[in-house]
Amino acid sequence: MIVSLLSLAVIGYAASLPTAFKDASLDCRGKKTAPEQLHFNYAGDHGMMISWNTEEKLELPSVLYGRGRSLDQIAFSKVSVTYPTSTTYSNHVFIKGLEPDTEYNFAVQCADENDHHQFKTSLPAGNPRPYSFAFFGDLGTMGPLGLTSYGQKDALGPGEITTMQSLNHFKDQVEFMWHDGDLAYADDWLKEEIDGFLPNTTVEAGAAVYEAILNAFYNEMAGNVTMELPYMVGPGNHEANCDNGGSGDYTDSICAQGQTNFTGFRNHFRMPSEQSGGLENFWYSWDYGMVHYIQFNTETDFLDAPDLPSGSGDENAGPFAPNGTQLEWLKKDLASVDRKKTPWIIVAGHRPWYVDETKCDACQAAFEPLLIEYGVDIALFGHKHFYERMTPVANGILDPNGLDNPSAPWYLVNGAAGHYEGLSSLTTPLENYTVQAIDTVYGWSRFTVHNCTHITQDFIASANGTVLDSATLYKDHNGCKF
Ligand SMILES: [Fe+2]
Repeated sequence: MIVSLLSLAVIGYAASLPTAFKDASLDCRGKKTAPEQLHFNYAGDHGMMISWNTEEKLELPSVLYGRGRSLDQIAFSKVSVTYPTSTTYSNHVFIKGLEPDTEYNFAVQCADENDHHQFKTSLPAGNPRPYSFAFFGDLGTMGPLGLTSYGQKDALGPGEITTMQSLNHFKDQVEFMWHDGDLAYADDWLKEEIDGFLPNTTVEAGAAVYEAILNAFYNEMAGNVTMELPYMVGPGNHEANCDNGGSGDYTDSICAQGQTNFTGFRNHFRMPSEQSGGLENFWYSWDYGMVHYIQFNTETDFLDAPDLPSGSGDENAGPFAPNGTQLEWLKKDLASVDRKKTPWIIVAGHRPWYVDETKCDACQAAFEPLLIEYGVDIALFGHKHFYERMTPVANGILDPNGLDNPSAPWYLVNGAAGHYEGLSSLTTPLENYTVQAIDTVYGWSRFTVHNCTHITQDFIASANGTVLDSATLYKDHNGCKF
């Protein structure tokens, strides 16, 4: 619901509010309605999803917004959700009827008077404007609950710039962020205690430690970037388990209700699956300029998916839809892409199958045939805590064209964003499809969509912004001219 409120200049919801919004106003009187963990994401060409957390439930979560510097409109919802052991409520407000590719000012309910932010709506399909975006996987909490400059493997150097800070530094150069699974690493709480990194607590109190790490991550991300750039996310295995797969004498039987099976992830985000016929934050797509983007789910919902109760990952999660739903959706979504408008298709799933470490064979069996059949240009992955760039490859066979107009998808793995567990080591000798591999540096990928024929990927070292690897893909795209 959206109502125009002309001349509403303050966020405390002044007396000019219609009766329907008085509940929202009353919510601000308590001290536990202060917004935290603010983030937003695309929701179609004319929409934006605004999300934030509060300690108390909001009856009518609401957002003031307007073009330029104004805040003359309001949108609200009834979506203020939580789960057992969570210390907060996740509030989600969908703003619709927006102009595409346009900057808006906004403020969420109960924010301080001057706590305004800006978002820019999606670039419509077919718009030829060049742009860049950030891609990364496997980013966890920084600081004393996660990755620090002391007391752990691959610790940060003194004063080293983290990936979150690096994203902040480059925020004016990218238009959105895509986090391809494994957010926060709250399930490392047990490992952190056993390591002596965090003080030992009881199993019963572990749930609170988990939530503290999760809250810290989302607040750090908000402080650095998610208050300023759209944040698209996908599911990873660390969203499925509360104890990082168990440790020593512990198994997932110690997990508190609500801390497994993607529960926090499902509460915290509202990705644009409604706009794309997908499912929650698990699989969905969106268009942005010359690219059709697809997030798919390598964790559950296909044959032998690793996180299923029968899967190899021991996560005991999902499925979330009837058998076959995800792949049917993916096929339909790929088939419906108008390559004249969006000549590029870029997809992302969490677990890779072309990688110099354990491969997800079940993922390859499920997804690769569709990526080949529909001419996907680029396939992105995380899960492995390093950076790897492959040459275009299909069914294990290297495309003879390399990056010069290949027919096979171009594969890239980047799970090097950083978290408590540090980096992983590549398995050598490297596979014949590997072109570049770096396992000693935290970093993220900057993709630049130049036009309908060229996309460049740069691997950026978070510590100093250096480009450590760069490559450009050329695709003819049937002689496109924009
Ligand atoms: Fe992972």
